[in-house]
Amino acid sequence: MRNIIVTGGNRGLGYEIAKTFANQNNHIIIACRDVEHGTYMAKKLPGSSEVIALDLCSEQSIYSFTKQLAERHSKIDVLMNNAGIFDNSGQKVTFMKQSFSNVWVTNTLGPYLLTKQMTPLLNKSTNPKCVFMSSVVGHHKRLNLKIITEQPSIEVYSQSKYADLLLTELFAKEHPSWQVLAAHPGYSNTAIFDGRISGWKKQVIRQMTNVFGQSPKKGAQSAILAINEDFSSGSYIGPKYLKELYGAPRIQHIQKYYHPEDLAIFSHFLTEIQK
Ligand SMILES: NC(=O)c1ccc[n+]([C@@H]2O[C@H](COP(=O)([O-])OP(=O)(O)OC[C@H]3O[C@@H](n4cnc5c(N)ncnc54)[C@H](OP(=O)(O)O)[C@@H]3O)[C@@H](O)[C@H]2O)c1
Repeated sequence: MRNIIVTGGNRGLGYEIAKTFANQNNHIIIACRDVEHGTYMAKKLPGSSEVIALDLCSEQSIYSFTKQLAERHSKIDVLMNNAGIFDNSGQKVTFMKQSFSNVWVTNTLGPYLLTKQMTPLLNKSTNPKCVFMSSVVGHHKRLNLKIITEQPSIEVYSQSKYADLLLTELFAKEHPSWQVLAAHPGYSNTAIFDGRISGWKKQVIRQMTNVFGQSPKKGAQSAILAINEDFSSGSYIGPKYLKELYGAPRIQHIQKYYHPEDLAIFSHFLTEIQK
């Protein structure tokens, strides 16, 4: 039986991913903040599942999640780093003794620390796999580390999703025995677009998303393929059509989407903040 962690598996794309793999061959671990909703949704899953509290903005919560997991399981086969927020509020979080945008911590630093913590359990699997959820808005950027501490800006979200591609490459290099992959869902109709944008803009985005967003089930297909089949590390799976916003998944390589110099810059940044 495979043990599969889906962060943010209580709703949206994460729930579609959890639902797809909830059968007798897998045990699903839903990792989320809203445990009550997670438990309600897990009850609807066939097969074996559990919900464990995880707040990616809290180092303490990541350590506590890791401890509970290690007490209950001898290995993890798949870590699906799906949870993420899109939030323009400018809220700050202290993480690794520094102040960062909550978006940057939820989408990048939290998944980084969680993946590091999961390493011993992933190493116990015969076919360990780790998938990072990115986004089209994170494609072809240059890393801008000023923005992650200084500005409440939508650009922080793009930077966090760009950094998820860099994380994919860094973990792939560090763990040659794992499959480390990235996926993105194109444009999918989930609650992520309702986060902390207020007034008329929120209404416009909601209406647009209702009309143009593909269903969460379709949006989840890239991550589902990444979990379902074997790929070489660094593979990047996302929808094929209309600037990669819609359609069936296609397999690319993340190297096409990031600037090679940013890998060393990001790696240095991660080392520095842990000193
Ligand atoms: N929808 C799209 O079109 C789209 C496009 C590109 C990329 N994505 C990416 O897809 C992923 C899933 O998003 P979605 O569209 O399914 O959004 P969603 O429906 O809003 O779900 C977000 C999930 O993330 C979890 N989460 C948020 N903050 C967390 C934290 N601090 N700690 C732990 N879990 C946290 C939430 O759990 P709680 O309910 O417990 O807070 C929730 O399950 C994200 O990484 C997002 O960036 C989505």
